[in-house]
Amino acid sequence: MFWLARVFPDGFLWGTAMAAFQVEMGLGEVDSRSDWYVWVRDENNIKKGLVSGDLPEDGPGFWALFRDDLKLARAGLGNNAVRLSLDWSRIFPEQTRDVPVKVRFDNYGNVCGVDVPMDSMRLLEERAYQPSVQKYREVLTECRNLGLTVLLTLYHWPLPLWIHDPIECRDDFVHAVRRGWTDQTTVVEFAKYAAYVAKTFGDSVDLYATLNEPMVASGAGYLRKSSGFPPGLGDLGLFVEVTKNLAVAHGIAYEQVKKWDISSCSAYGPAYVGVVHNPQYYEPFDKDSKADVEASRFVEYVQNEWILNMILKGDYDLDLNMIIEKDEQRPSLVKGCDFIGVNYYMRNRIRSAESKVPGLPGFETVPCTQNCTDMGWEIYPQGMRYVTNWVYNRYRRPIMITENGIADAKDEKRSEYLLSHLREIHKSITDDSVTVKGYFHWSLMDNFEWARGFKMRFGLYRVNYETKERTPTKAVPIYKQIATTNTLQE
Ligand code: FCB
Repeated sequence: MFWLARVFPDGFLWGTAMAAFQVEMGLGEVDSRSDWYVWVRDENNIKKGLVSGDLPEDGPGFWALFRDDLKLARAGLGNNAVRLSLDWSRIFPEQTRDVPVKVRFDNYGNVCGVDVPMDSMRLLEERAYQPSVQKYREVLTECRNLGLTVLLTLYHWPLPLWIHDPIECRDDFVHAVRRGWTDQTTVVEFAKYAAYVAKTFGDSVDLYATLNEPMVASGAGYLRKSSGFPPGLGDLGLFVEVTKNLAVAHGIAYEQVKKWDISSCSAYGPAYVGVVHNPQYYEPFDKDSKADVEASRFVEYVQNEWILNMILKGDYDLDLNMIIEKDEQRPSLVKGCDFIGVNYYMRNRIRSAESKVPGLPGFETVPCTQNCTDMGWEIYPQGMRYVTNWVYNRYRRPIMITENGIADAKDEKRSEYLLSHLREIHKSITDDSVTVKGYFHWSLMDNFEWARGFKMRFGLYRVNYETKERTPTKAVPIYKQIATTNTLQE
């Protein structure tokens, strides 16, 4: 028999990815101070079917069970890394606006620098909610003790309520006060939070992601009213503003983390900071239709390139005409990005359609009919190699696969999904000379899948939400074998 051994590079990170809001609640302290908490329990949203009606406080309970869960990651899966996020609202449940900082602006009025003086850092330390800080410290220490390298995401979607009231924004945006990422002051507050996190947890963390999938936060929140994401608006101007502010926020947070984290705990130390993006694989539904080809190209540009061009090149194409005019060149906003996190799940077929948002060309995603996951996402492993290569060749930054996984309640397709995507990643590394530094499967265990709730089961471990019991899926021994040998055998 012929065996092919696909060996991964030395030091490759093998992990799973999680987000605070999706796993923490269920046991232990509930965090009711975020926009998402309010959003998923809003009667109107539930009545309209925008959200499932499931509530995060019935979740897996990582807040109390983190030691057991991290043991599953280490001993059960043989992982050497884990991707976690902190919830901003747990650390600063009350506002930090009156903590003084020096803010610099560029010629266009964009925040281009924030200085957090030492006195202000002391104030932030006084303001931070200590029970949360202690808990996060315990989690990070446990990771270290187990030998799990942490990739820490600062923003994985929930915003503190004092920054964003999604109901107020949805119902009457013009008069709303707490306007989330549409408001540039959020960038300044994010700088304070990032500085505080880097200073406080820097001794246990070297790898950071500033933002998770900013294009989902802006696109689902401000372009697709029916997405089930807060604040559920359909407004091109707000979408552009939010995307721009998120790009700026990446740079500002990048600077803060680099400045405040001065201790190393791994070869990545003291701070290796990137952004997590979700470039998607697109195809025109009808390759012979000029309208479909153009629609697909436009969506690809907006989703895949637009924000990375801002973050890495300072190209702020704010009128979305795919041309960078002189006043759209903003080099002072480029601060750095040490790696790019790639989240990849599916293929999208795009066809032209009537526009749903004034000012935006019309398009729609054709529903999946074959090889679909429970989310209705089309399984297409080749797209993994395509997007990885595309991001690397275009932006020349090391890649981290920060998410990839499948909602598969019956546990029929998960193992092959994992294997087929890893095969493609290995081809990127060996055949295409792409630098990929790690793979984080989404997710360690089933969790609260945002608007879709608990029905979507992405976990390598299945969660019984009544008893909080975790049971391995068929992919667990497979992933363990790969992670512990750093090799995919076939
Ligand atoms: C990604 C999110 C993650 C999870 C997966 C399924 O878009 O980053 O939190 O919901 O999808």
